[in-house]
Order: sequence, then structure tokens, then C-alpha cells
Amino acid sequence: MTLESNSATAVVGLQWGDEGKGKLVDLLAGRFDAVVRYNGGANAGHSVVVAGERYALHLVPSGILSPGVKAVIGNGVVIDPQRLFEEIATLSERGVDTSQLVVSDRAHVVMPYHKAEDALREELLSGSVREGQSQSKGVINAIGTTKRGIGPAYADKVQRATAVRVGDLLQPEVLREKLEMICSLKNGIFSALRPEGHEPFDAYALTQQYSELGQKLSPMIQDTAYLLDDLRRAGGEILFEGANATMLDVDHGTYPYVTSSNASALGIGPGSGVPPQSIGRIIGVVKAYCTRVGGGPMPTELFDATGDAIRERGREYGTTTGRPRRVGWLDLVALKYAAMISGATELCITLLDVLAGESELKLATGYESPNGKTSRFIADACTLSEATPIYETMPGFSQDITGVRTFDELPAQAQAYVERIEEFVGVRVGIISVGPDREQTIIRS
Ligand code: IMP
Repeated sequence: MTLESNSATAVVGLQWGDEGKGKLVDLLAGRFDAVVRYNGGANAGHSVVVAGERYALHLVPSGILSPGVKAVIGNGVVIDPQRLFEEIATLSERGVDTSQLVVSDRAHVVMPYHKAEDALREELLSGSVREGQSQSKGVINAIGTTKRGIGPAYADKVQRATAVRVGDLLQPEVLREKLEMICSLKNGIFSALRPEGHEPFDAYALTQQYSELGQKLSPMIQDTAYLLDDLRRAGGEILFEGANATMLDVDHGTYPYVTSSNASALGIGPGSGVPPQSIGRIIGVVKAYCTRVGGGPMPTELFDATGDAIRERGREYGTTTGRPRRVGWLDLVALKYAAMISGATELCITLLDVLAGESELKLATGYESPNGKTSRFIADACTLSEATPIYETMPGFSQDITGVRTFDELPAQAQAYVERIEEFVGVRVGIISVGPDREQTIIRS
């Protein structure tokens, strides 16, 4: 029995999320033994259409829709057990077999006080924006989080003493001791910041509630690092499903307007326990244009009728929060950077069909910033918010391409657009999605 290296595949977003990773994972999942989530939590929204039925997944890996494939929630994920059970119940009601779902004993638990902290911090930060100050600049504005408690849960993970792991839910005494200490700390902070209207968190009630949730979760809880190692040693194939996206990575994205995990492919190792040399294929998923939800710089953002038209055609409203997404032209500078950070070995372009009807297509190939012209991504959010894109313009196409199944059948302008992307980024486009259904996919040989 040998341990095959380079056998795992990863699907990771290369923009600010919502690139259509769920569809691709679902398309590929049947060929793998396990689909693994390694980061994020219920902030992610993967929408997958199977046989005309739309499924919105938040915590459960999209591989759940492929019978017999293990769906693993790795240690790098932060889990809100109540939301997880709601999602499992919805899937079961729709006839999806959820018995293959496995949860890491080391994943962290999103607790009610995390959601309260998330909401309170956002409220305090938006209050700190002075009149006339741009919402997209600086370091003190609200981040525009999903308010799912993600940031506070990761903050407690790093704090260590104030964290609750899934494994703790199975040890009521340990859980009670932790929660007594945590609740007294959190209650102190809340009553200082919000003297009126703060309902104290009750350690006893939370211990009862979360021990019960732990019991319910126990059949799914495993040491997933060993589970994945055993699987690999037996020759099994693993697919990693990135949540959120590379430009939201806490280290490499548009910090501080990012999520709180390593949402690029760099998060796979720490978030799953699988070593980096095992990942041979990294598919970077990129929308044919850009979208972003929440605050933070987005140099190619459109504030005109073109942006509105793309938003409507692309149904660009959040799967998790329902918020309208910010829309812009494709930013090749950011894309090339994200492909570098995530080590993309190939690209999958999604929603190309949404661009049909635009007479011209613009691509940002550089930025004009206060520090001069550059073709490199600008890591500092403040400087990036002052950068304006340098555009290249290409002819658009008007034909409906949702029925196209080969690259050669695409209109010449759409082919040229795809070829320009791969030329600029230096990574081949292997897959093109032209609609939400599994079949609406072009695989280039
Ligand atoms: P948080 O992850 O809820 O803390 O939110 C931080 C930022 O990341 C916000 O701007 C969110 O809108 C954004 N975000 C987090 N997850 C996703 C996602 O899956 N798609 C798009 N945006 C996301």
C-alpha cells in the first residue's frame, strides 16, 4: 500500500466568492471518494442545480448530492450546529441521503454569543464612519459580514481559552467549565459595550443545549485527519471544496475586508490535516465578470445600467443573505494574483452566458493608483480603494450561448474573451459554464 502523492483535487474561488464553485464540485464529486470543506462556515452559499432543482448549501459540502461520496466538514470549518441540522433536515426532506456526512472533532463551534458579537461589532463600526467618509476606504468601516458569527468564532479559536471545539460537545463537564468562564468574560464585555438590552448568556442553559446538540451530532463526529489519511492510503481520491474565495483570504485578500479564514487553496493543509504535496490539481473558479458582497475595495465596480443589467441577468443576489451583489468588469490583475496565491493549475470560467447582450466587454489589465501605474495587485485596501482600473476593451456577443456544449460553437467574440483571460493569467481555461445546470458545461479537451 503506497501513499499516492498529487492525487487530490481542489476547487477554489479566485474572486470575492459566489463564482459558482458549488456547481463545479457537484459536477466532479461523483468521481471522488470524499468531498472536503476546509474553511469558513455558514457564511458560504453554494447553490447547485440538479435536474432543474436548486439546492442552497451553506455548511454541508456540495458532494452530499452525489450518492456514496463522503462529505467531510474538516477541522478548519466553524460550525453552527443548529444551522447544520436545519440544512440536514432540508436536504433529507428533499430525498438527499445525508448519511455520508462526517464532521471533524476539531472543528470549532459557532456559539450564540459569536453571532451577537458579530452584529455588535458591525453596528459599532458603522457608527464610527464619520459623515462624508467613503464606505469603501480605510480600516474602521463595517466589514459587511454575513453576521453568522464567523469572525468571532475564529477569533476565539486563536484566543484558545475561549474556544469550543466539536469534540467538547461530547464532554458535558468540560463544556460546562469552559462555558462558565467564557460566559462570564463575554457577559462582562457585552454589559460594558451595551449596558442596556444585554440579556446575559447563561452557561448552564448553553451547556444543556449544546450537550444535546453534541449527542445528536455524535454519530457524525470523527478524527477526519486520520479518516482522510486512511482514505488516501487505500488509493481513495479526495476533492477539496473551497468556501468563500481567494480575495477574501484573511492573509492574502483585500484585508481587512475579508473573511476570517484562509479561503484560498493555501487553507487546505491547516483546515483538513492533508499535507500540501498531496494536491495535484487546483481548479480556480472565476466568473466572467466580478461580484462582491459587503464592504471593501473593488476597482472595477460598475454603478451604471450595465452593472444593473449584469446583476439581473446573473441573478446576483446573495445565497446566504439575499443582499444585492456589487457587480463589475473582470479584473485580470486581481485574477492573476489570486491564481498565483491559490496555485491554480487550470481555470473554470462561469456565467459566461450572462455577458451575452453586452456590445463591449472590458477587462482591467492594470491600475492607476496614487503610487503610479501598476500591473500588480495592491494589497493595501486603502491604496486599492483609490486605484482606478486601466481597461482593455473587446467586442461583445449577443447570441444566447446557454445551449452551447463545445468551445468551437461559442461566438468568435466569446472565444477571444476566454483566450485573452488565459493569456493574461497564464493558466489554461479547461472548463466553461454557460448555465446553472450540470449539462450546461463546456469541457475543453
Ligand atoms: P464573514 O465571513 O461573515 O465574516 O464576512 C466577511 C466578508 O466576506 C463580507 O464582506 C462577506 O460578504 C464576505 N463573504 C463571506 N463569505 C462569502 C461568500 O461565500 N461569498 C461572498 N462573500 C462572502
